[in-house]
Amino acid sequence: MSDQSKALPLSRTVAVIGSGAMGAGIAQVAAAAGYTVQLFDTRAEAVTQAIAGIAAMFDKLAAKGRMTADQARQASARLHPASSLAALAEAALVVEAIVENLDVKRKVFAELEGLVADDCIFASNTSSISITSIGAGLRLPQRLVGMHFFNPVPLMALVEVISGLASDAAVAACVYDTALVWGKNPVHTKSTPGFIVNRVARPYYAEALRLLNEQAADPATIDAILRESGGFRMGPFELMDLIGHDVNFAVTQSVFQAYFTDPRFTPSLIQQELVNAGFLGRKSARGFYHYGDNVAAPLALTETPAVLAPQVVQLFGAGPLVSALSARLEHLSLERHMAPGADQLLLQCGNARLYLTDGRSATQRASDNAHADTILIDLALDYSLATRVALTPADQCSSAAYAQILALLQAAGYAVSRLDDVPGMAVMRTVAMLANEAADTVNQGVCSAADADMAMQKGVNYPRGPLAWADAIGLPVIADVLAHLAAAYGEDRYRVSPLILRKTASGVPFHV
Ligand code: NAI
Repeated sequence: MSDQSKALPLSRTVAVIGSGAMGAGIAQVAAAAGYTVQLFDTRAEAVTQAIAGIAAMFDKLAAKGRMTADQARQASARLHPASSLAALAEAALVVEAIVENLDVKRKVFAELEGLVADDCIFASNTSSISITSIGAGLRLPQRLVGMHFFNPVPLMALVEVISGLASDAAVAACVYDTALVWGKNPVHTKSTPGFIVNRVARPYYAEALRLLNEQAADPATIDAILRESGGFRMGPFELMDLIGHDVNFAVTQSVFQAYFTDPRFTPSLIQQELVNAGFLGRKSARGFYHYGDNVAAPLALTETPAVLAPQVVQLFGAGPLVSALSARLEHLSLERHMAPGADQLLLQCGNARLYLTDGRSATQRASDNAHADTILIDLALDYSLATRVALTPADQCSSAAYAQILALLQAAGYAVSRLDDVPGMAVMRTVAMLANEAADTVNQGVCSAADADMAMQKGVNYPRGPLAWADAIGLPVIADVLAHLAAAYGEDRYRVSPLILRKTASGVPFHV
C-alpha cells in the first residue's frame, strides 16, 4: 500500500452481508488481500458453505502454486462466520451482496447503522438499484457508495465504485483504493441507471438483435463476424445465451425504463419471444442455439471459394485494410498498383470498388456515387490479424464484380461472410454505438473516458475500450456512421453524442 493510499488499513475488519455467489467471491478477494473478513447471511448454511468453498479455493490455488500452503491457511483463517448483524459491530467496511430489492437493502443498512461506528463505510454490490435511493434512508447517507463487482468475482478485475448524490468523495476514494489492494481495477462512476458497463454494453446485444431482425445474417454468422473480425471474445448471441435471456432482457428493460424509454435502449421483440417461449439460453438447453451432448456447434455461413482470381488490383491510400491486404497479397502473382487515397475508396478490381462501410447501405452508396459495382467491407479490430471479414454488395452490383472482390479477400486468407445490405454492417455499427454510449457517459459526467474504456475492457472483456477504438478509427468516421444510421432509420436511437460532435469539430481525441 503506498503512503498516499486511502485504502482501509489491513488491521481493520471487512464484513460481507449475503454469502451467495457474489458475497462469497467478495469475501475471498478481501481475505486473500489480507483483511479479516466476517460473513453474514440470513441463511446460516450459506455462510458455512461460502467459507468452506473459499477455503477449498485457497487450497486449490496453493496446489497450483499461485499462493503458498501457508498463505492459503492464513487466508482461510481470516474468514469468520457472523451469526447476526450485531456481530459486525467492529467492521470498518461492510459490503452488502443480498437480494436485489431496494426495501430489503434499506432495511439491512438502517439496522446496521445502529450497530456500527459512525465512520464505518457501507458499500452495496447492487447491479441495478440507485445508490442514491439506497442511501436515502440512512442517518449518515454520505457513508454509502456502490461497490459493483462482476461475476465471478475472483476472476473479473473490474469494480465500479458508485457515488450517489449524498456519497462522500472520501468514502468513494477509500473504497476505490481498497479495491486496488484487493487486486482489482476500480473505476469511479455516478449513480445512474446501468452505471457504466450495463449501460455502455447495451448496443452490443441490441445492434445484433436488430441485425437479426432485419435478416442481415443468422446468429452464428453475426457471432463469427464479431469474434473473428471484431476481436470480441464472444459473439452477442452466444453471450446472450450464456447470460440467460431472462436476465439480459430484464436488464435491458430496466435500463430502458430507467432512462424514461429513451429509444437508445429499446428492447427487442426477438428476445422477448425467447423469454416467452422459455428458451432462456444455455440453462434451458435452447436459446438462439441448441445445447446438449449430441448437438453440433452452429456453423457460420462462409462464402465458398470464388472461381476467378483477379489478375490486377488497384489499392488506394495506406489505411489499415489496404496495408494489411498488400502484405497478405505479397506472395501472390498479382499485379498490384498503389495510388493515393481518394473518396474513401479502398481498392478496385476491374469495375468492382470496395469501400469501408460509413453507415450508409451499399445500395445507397452505389446510388450516391453513381457506380453500381459497389461492395462494402465491415470494420475489423486488426485487418492484419483478422481471420474473417464481412462483405455486402449493393443491390445493383453485378455478381461478377462481387466475385472479384470476394476472390481477392479469399486470396488474402480471409474467410468471408456476406451480410445482407443493412446500414453500418455488423462490427462498425456495433462499435460506433458502443462508442456513442460511452461518449454520452463521459459527456454527462458519469465517468472519465479512461474509466469508461477500462470498465468495458475489464468488466466485459472487450478487446479495446470503445473510446480508444473510436479514436483509432477516427472520430469523423464514427460521427458519419452514426449520422448515416440516424438518416437511414429516422430514429432518435442513433443520434450522435454531443461529445463526439464536439471532438470531431475540435480534432482532439478522447485519449490524447
Ligand atoms: P445470491 O442469491 O447468490 O445470494 C444472495 C444471498 O443473500 C443469499 O445467500 C441470501 O440468503 C442472502 N440474503 C438475502 N436477504 C438477506 C438479508 N436480508 N440479510 C442477509 N442475507 C440475505 O445472489 P448474488 O448473485 O450473489 O447477488 C447478490 C447481489 O449482488 C444482488 O444485489 C445482485 O444484484 C448483485 N450482483 C449480482 C451479480 C451476478 O452476476 N450474480 C453481479 C453483480 C451484482
